[in-house]
Amino acid sequence: MQPLLEVRGLALRYPSGTQALIDVSIAVPAGELLVVLGGNGCGKTTLLRCITRTLTPTAGEVWLNGGDIAHLTGERLRQARLDVALIWQHAALVRRRSVLANVACGALGRHQTLLTALGLLPSIEMQAAADYLHQVGLSHLAKQRAGTLSGGQAQRVAIARALAQRPSVVLADEPVASLDPEAAQEIMRLLRRLAHQEGLGVLCVLHQVDLAFAYADRVVGLRSGRVAFDQPTSGLSQDAVRQLYLAEAA
Ligand SMILES: Nc1ncnc2c1ncn2[C@@H]1O[C@H](COP(=O)(O)OP(=O)(O)OP(=O)(O)O)[C@@H](O)[C@H]1O
Ligand SMILES: [Mg+2]
Repeated sequence: MQPLLEVRGLALRYPSGTQALIDVSIAVPAGELLVVLGGNGCGKTTLLRCITRTLTPTAGEVWLNGGDIAHLTGERLRQARLDVALIWQHAALVRRRSVLANVACGALGRHQTLLTALGLLPSIEMQAAADYLHQVGLSHLAKQRAGTLSGGQAQRVAIARALAQRPSVVLADEPVASLDPEAAQEIMRLLRRLAHQEGLGVLCVLHQVDLAFAYADRVVGLRSGRVAFDQPTSGLSQDAVRQLYLAEAA
């Protein structure tokens, strides 16, 4: 079956001259949690920005649901982007709005009307938002202001907001970096469930090697902008991962 997301021969050179990605090819099938590991500056965030097309690759292709979006612009790019939801290290919620309203915000991109310009959504979307909040186990906090949440709760709300976008691919850039170990496990369990039970393709950048081994279906190691390995977790050696960070430091 064709992967939901596939980058082929991707290269990205910043105007400053830094060659951040070189010939990167990675596929994310439906139902799989793929973790990307690699040292600081190896190109992980740049890879995600090429997929969301906030950067345009210097070379290569970004296949999403059967179409290459590497050079799309305008309305066609906006439509394609709706299919990819992003989760960042910090949840970036609207602090003074309710948890439920924050989740519902995820649906805004799919409704371009005068109502949404005023921040209002059809009631069916509010019901869906409540369902997504239930999925992340936070129904009881629906009416609470988002600014009052703990880091772990806020990140779960960010995941519910990503789901409200109804993407087929979820990208996460160090989603557990500021969470305690238990909250981090909770987020990884959720991301794995989205892949295994909801059939989404999930690509998650991590610095926690133990979490990669515990939760990923497959692990890609990036080193100096290149793919150093791409392996099912079951076949991955601790040594290969160690090499990744040693080489990056060299
Ligand atoms: N806007 C930019 N302009 C120029 N160079 C950049 C820019 N953003 C990133 N870089 C460079 O590109 C390379 C890859 O950066 P990137 O942020 O993708 O790394 P990363 O793997 O996400 O690192 P970290 O683990 O620290 O988040 C680095 O050398 C970085 O300095
Ligand atoms: Mg980064």
